[in-house]
Amino acid sequence: MVDNIWTDFAQSYDAICSQLNCYRRMVDKILRDTQGCETVIDAGCGTGLVSQALVSRGLSVVGFDNNPGMLALALRKQAARPVEERRRWTVLEGDVRSFPPGVPALADAVVLNNVLFYVREPEEVLRESLAHLRPGGRLISAGPRKRPDLQKVMTKSIEEWQAEGRWDEALQATTAYHVDLTRRLVTDPNEMVTFFEPEALVETLRRLGFSRLIAADNDDYYGENYYVCMAR
Ligand SMILES: C[S@@+](CC[C@H](N)C(=O)[O-])C[C@H]1O[C@@H](n2cnc3c(N)ncnc32)[C@H](O)[C@@H]1O
Repeated sequence: MVDNIWTDFAQSYDAICSQLNCYRRMVDKILRDTQGCETVIDAGCGTGLVSQALVSRGLSVVGFDNNPGMLALALRKQAARPVEERRRWTVLEGDVRSFPPGVPALADAVVLNNVLFYVREPEEVLRESLAHLRPGGRLISAGPRKRPDLQKVMTKSIEEWQAEGRWDEALQATTAYHVDLTRRLVTDPNEMVTFFEPEALVETLRRLGFSRLIAADNDDYYGENYYVCMAR
């Protein structure tokens, strides 16, 4: 287990991402591109927000992360689900550079949502993902194209919340706390280390053995993030 910035971040990450429309839109794309899948590996699952959405759609998910704070929240979410969903949702400790024992050997999909930016060896993670996919299985990776413009993301999110009548005192307090922490993450050169343009990630994935492009765009987080889905 690794005690790092995500330990402080866990509560506020979970509280804010579950409210962010840009995060919800990204999860919708993951749900779209995992239609027809049965078994999904959620690598770097964090607090389990994506895992929970997949499990609610009827998929079986094995999620893992290496941060205790994030994992504790994922385990709490998993434990709160009805028994039938709990049976389809496993939460493990593990490193994305070398998947832990207990993840499916041949999954239908591997999701790396906002994870690669934190890893200095992204190709190790992508190779490991490929090795855990059945032929035709899908990799979905989403994350920042560059050091993100936090101000832009939060300003646009607040505009959307105001338009929806959701910008209440509780959300204002959660946002203020989260923005303070996120500024640390975004400005520390050691904290966000790997960025991709979608075209560059597609090229890397082709070189590593992925063959079929399913989706690639840079729409998420108001143009700050890439989204790529490729099949092996
Ligand atoms: C921005 S969060 C994303 C969490 C989740 N994928 C989501 O979509 O909400 C990044 C996560 O990656 C995890 N992480 C970073 N490096 C990791 C590694 N080497 N192995 C496992 N997890 C890692 C962090 O602990 C954190 O939970």
